[in-house]
Amino acid sequence: MISHQKAILLSCLIIAGFLSLQAGSQSGQKVGAQNDIPKGWPKQAVRAAHGMVVTDEELGSQAGVEILKRGGNAVDAAVATAFALAVVEPAAGNIGGGGFMLIRLADGKTTFLDYRETAPGKATRDMYIGKDGKLDEEASVIGYRSVAVPGTVAGLELALKTYGTMKLAEATAPAIRLAEEGFVVSEKLAAELEEESPGLQTFPTSKRIFLNGGQHFKAGDKLKQPELAATLKRIAEKGASEFYRGETAHLLADEMAKNGGILLLDDLANYKPKVREGLHAKYDSGGHSWEVLAAPPPSSGGVAIIEALNMLKDVPLKGWNDPQSVQMVAETMRRVFADRAAYLADPDYTKIPVAGLTDPCYAKERAATIDPAKVTPSKTVTAGTPHTCGASANPDIVPHLVASRVEGPHTTHFSVVDAAGNAVASTYTLNASYGSHVTCAAGFLLNDEMDDFTTQPGAPNSLYELMQSDANAIAPGHRPLSSMTPTILLRDGKLSFVTGSPGGPTIISVTLLSVLNWMRLGMDAQAAINAPRFHHQWFPDRIRMEAEFPLSMEQALRARGYEVERGWYYTPSLGSEAKLSKHMGLVNAIGIDAQTGDRLGAADPRDQGSAVGY
Ligand code: DON
Repeated sequence: MISHQKAILLSCLIIAGFLSLQAGSQSGQKVGAQNDIPKGWPKQAVRAAHGMVVTDEELGSQAGVEILKRGGNAVDAAVATAFALAVVEPAAGNIGGGGFMLIRLADGKTTFLDYRETAPGKATRDMYIGKDGKLDEEASVIGYRSVAVPGTVAGLELALKTYGTMKLAEATAPAIRLAEEGFVVSEKLAAELEEESPGLQTFPTSKRIFLNGGQHFKAGDKLKQPELAATLKRIAEKGASEFYRGETAHLLADEMAKNGGILLLDDLANYKPKVREGLHAKYDSGGHSWEVLAAPPPSSGGVAIIEALNMLKDVPLKGWNDPQSVQMVAETMRRVFADRAAYLADPDYTKIPVAGLTDPCYAKERAATIDPAKVTPSKTVTAGTPHTCGASANPDIVPHLVASRVEGPHTTHFSVVDAAGNAVASTYTLNASYGSHVTCAAGFLLNDEMDDFTTQPGAPNSLYELMQSDANAIAPGHRPLSSMTPTILLRDGKLSFVTGSPGGPTIISVTLLSVLNWMRLGMDAQAAINAPRFHHQWFPDRIRMEAEFPLSMEQALRARGYEVERGWYYTPSLGSEAKLSKHMGLVNAIGIDAQTGDRLGAADPRDQGSAVGY
């Protein structure tokens, strides 16, 4: 095994522009040279001895560290970070959306908080289908009718009450300050708001707050959000019940009623976050025993990642400059997504064969359908018959009929580790960038999470063309299926890696890749995030790869029979956004240096993520 110091030295010797891969630093396996990374991307993670917060936004990371330094634990910091991102990352940070939080405390206790949005009581299966039988593609994506019952505030309060040490007033303090005093608009935010202006300008409050009343923000301007500050103060003082039953709830419900929304006061009053048992799987790699802690349904991601890791257990992986390694992972993804489509939905309303899908014996059977010498076309791949070792498949569990769905382009993942070793992986979202684009009178953007349901059972309807089943159809109180996959890895029983990503269905692939990079390929934390990403979701039957892959990889995969999109794919309905996105996911991860215990903050440079430690 190469020591960390030697690994750093080795990376210095790699010719300029080559990815700095410190082979063997985690798993003891050697990996070949990797692909180029763009100029300006960091080669090293941010190292700190005590705590670390990694988010999309420096101000969000700083808010978390401020709380850690004040003596808060990782959960206090995660809650403060989530509230702060609701102010400084309006595209995805939120109090008007929902999400998941995976917590692993230093004493080994692990829990999963599900504050996914739910469909309002008046929601119906066909609510987005017109009299002509056609899907109204806009209605589930933009405007009041696309809004599901927000879960974030209830979830954050639950996290704080159960595992935090601070009061809401302390945890919301950085967010309130940022909303009240304002913060300097970055070039990134100015460009993003400009890009989103067609949607935002449709709604007067969105236009006033986020488009500067139509004048548009320039980098360097200050963005103040007084209504949001007032809402956060009410929450700080009165707790989540204020949001769900108090003034905020009334403001929201009144506005909904006036604008054709279906969300009622009762929907807010009835919302409940859930504590669920996280998924757990074990692997041996590079002479270490690894445990993967992952998100249970209504996330599809944890099941998919464990199934994929199980299938890849005995597959040699050399790195992402090796077409055979890419092929084996793509073939795995294809099968995992077929299972996802057929079996995953809201676990409170659908029987999901989680034990079978995540079972090593089932994975072995599933992996046996891969011919390493040949690509399997997706049309010949169907969902498997999940079962546990030694047991036959449960006849009650049948694959559901699949359909497809729309997916929006923004969400945010952040990771926190404190000095004691408590860890939080959290992904939360408004679904699309800026959600429904509606900013309510209480000053926050509302989600368009209704679009994560199968909006037209049995018919294709999607931007990302992701297949999923009738079991995910719209029904009151149901949680739409999610791909969000906050994940934590342990190595030899100790905290090792905290990861997750936005990106719709690509969340699953890029989180899986970050895990493989760290656990199987022994990459250093930053290299694991920088490494180029690829994705296969069964249908459409093609590999999508980031632009950083060389043409030679595209050619090699084409020669093997794949359809390949290198550089982000063009989806007409996504318009300019699709053309601008040549990257997949934004993984904000924290690795732990096994030798020193240092926290290695690896922010995703794809959108200027930020790791702050102390
Ligand atoms: O829960 C989900 O799977 C989606 N709402 C996530 C959307 C998303 O990641 C878009 N972001 N890039």
